[in-house]
Amino acid sequence: MNQQIFPTTLQRTKWLSGLSLALMIILSIAIGLYAIAFQARVTGDPGFQLRFSEYSVTSSMHVIGGAVVIILGGFQFSTWLRQHYTQVHRWTGRIYLIFVLIGGVGGLMIAPQSAGGPTAHFGFGLLALLWLFSGWQAYACIRRRDIQAHRAWMMRNYAMTFGAVTLRIYLGLLAGAGVDFPEAYPLVAWLSWVPNLIIVEWYLALKAQGLNASG
Ligand code: HEM
Repeated sequence: MNQQIFPTTLQRTKWLSGLSLALMIILSIAIGLYAIAFQARVTGDPGFQLRFSEYSVTSSMHVIGGAVVIILGGFQFSTWLRQHYTQVHRWTGRIYLIFVLIGGVGGLMIAPQSAGGPTAHFGFGLLALLWLFSGWQAYACIRRRDIQAHRAWMMRNYAMTFGAVTLRIYLGLLAGAGVDFPEAYPLVAWLSWVPNLIIVEWYLALKAQGLNASG
């Protein structure tokens, strides 16, 4: 009986994680394309566009860096891609980290000028620092061939990258709930990434427990 149930449970888990990865990639590409359209001035809030044109170098670094990173990043978690196209994974990873550096430095520079006052400045500023730090840690771990730690740091890093998606989801939900932008923005400067990081830490802790139990 157990032998009959086990493969189906395993298959279902694999299917579910494949589906979640696909959804994550689709949402990430959508926001990445939005960022490209924003940079090309095809779309975006006119107030943001005007402010960003006042510090065009750092804001462009941020938006272009963020777009490249969010479009590429999701694919790095595909086991199939990693196993079949290891060189592609390596080169995509290098490009990803270079653009985290560009986007992160840009993000750090524009954080003190963001909408939403000091709460938002601090939220985005801390996010930029942690984004840079986790990218650096992921790189340092893979240089010393510590694959498990590299994977954990990349998950943390991407949880923050994915904040660009969750930020827009929360903004939409809060607007739907009647919360005005000036109140919503400082909140989402934190809400967009702190829960993402908590979920990743929780997943990593569960995985470590599983490994300890089986070892
Ligand atoms: C994870 C680290 C990130 C940090 C610290 C960060 C920080 C910021 C800050 C401070 C602003 C300016 C807000 C304002 O002026 O009021 C901003 C805007 C923006 N960011 Fe990011 N961001 C991050 C990730 C990303 C990613 C991955 C993308 C890629 C899609 C992205 C795309 C944008 C765009 C397009 C804007 C313009 C405003 C808008 O249309 O929403 N950011 N970001």
